[in-house]
Amino acid sequence: MENTTPLEILKLDGELGQVYQGILEACKEIAEHLRYSTSNKIQTTNDFGDVQLDQDVQTDSLIFEALKNTGMVYAGLSEERSYVTQLDDNGKYIVTFDPLDGSSIIDTNFTIGSIFAIWPKGDLNEMTGRKIVGAALALYGSRTNILIYNPDTEQVDEATLQKTGENELQWVISQKNIRIRTDGRYFSPGNTRSIQYNKGYRDCIQFWSRNGYILRYSGGMAPDCYHIFKKGEGVFSSVSGEPKVTPKLRLLYECAPISYLCEKAGGLSSDGTQSVLDIQVKGYTQKCDIIIGSREEVERVERFLQNGK
Ligand code: AHG
Ligand code: MN
Ligand code: MN
Ligand code: MN
Repeated sequence: MENTTPLEILKLDGELGQVYQGILEACKEIAEHLRYSTSNKIQTTNDFGDVQLDQDVQTDSLIFEALKNTGMVYAGLSEERSYVTQLDDNGKYIVTFDPLDGSSIIDTNFTIGSIFAIWPKGDLNEMTGRKIVGAALALYGSRTNILIYNPDTEQVDEATLQKTGENELQWVISQKNIRIRTDGRYFSPGNTRSIQYNKGYRDCIQFWSRNGYILRYSGGMAPDCYHIFKKGEGVFSSVSGEPKVTPKLRLLYECAPISYLCEKAGGLSSDGTQSVLDIQVKGYTQKCDIIIGSREEVERVERFLQNGK
């Protein structure tokens, strides 16, 4: 049957658009690479103490190379190389990214992703997430999708990797202007080892369980947050119970990029007291608590955490 709707290929113009093109190119390669790869632990750890898989370092290299090829990226930092890697002296941007989110669930063939934030060139340690100028969240599941903040329309759009020719894969726009409603029924509670030390978080999870909320937790921040964007509602949380259970997720590579997308889509992000985008960057391995998603649900978690103190 003839396809009557014209395919709208995702194209972005300008210098920032070229950075996005690099990201799109890298994610396309990663999607193809992962489909036929095997997971082997290699004998190295990253600065966060994670034992690296060969896929962590392969996807990391693919992204660094694609960013360099754009000629628009001054420097890059990633979960696997959490220091400044200079790419192009003339570049105007810094890209921070998690090349492979979900390496602990890749052996079970759960959905995994890549997370990106684009910052202006400068000292990241003098910035907050408010300086971010673009972000993307790719998902490698039964399909390959990406959410991007489109600087031309100032909206969050979704693209899907599709076969457009015999052997040609292209990013086709599959949903425009993704919005997150103010309240939501889905909850995705992460870092739950903390609840024995954090009464507020424990009470909050109990509230969700007793009030008809629906659990959605895969063990990957990328797919769990993607669920919120796609359904347009819900809340993802990763909350610590200091001093025994410390924050788990990384500000530059995971929390700030997804918070940027979430707030651009009408949602809210919080570290318990302030927006994740207002957290002052203090180092390249900084971690933070995060609650993200539907505005009223995030505010409810903040109240539970305050009351539990
Ligand atoms: P990564 O695979 O990039 O190291 O990140 C894993 C993270 C994140 O995706 C997820 O939300 C969290 O680890 C899951 O941990 P818990 O189930 O212990 O919360
Ligand atoms: Mn890791
Ligand atoms: Mn991750
Ligand atoms: Mn990772």
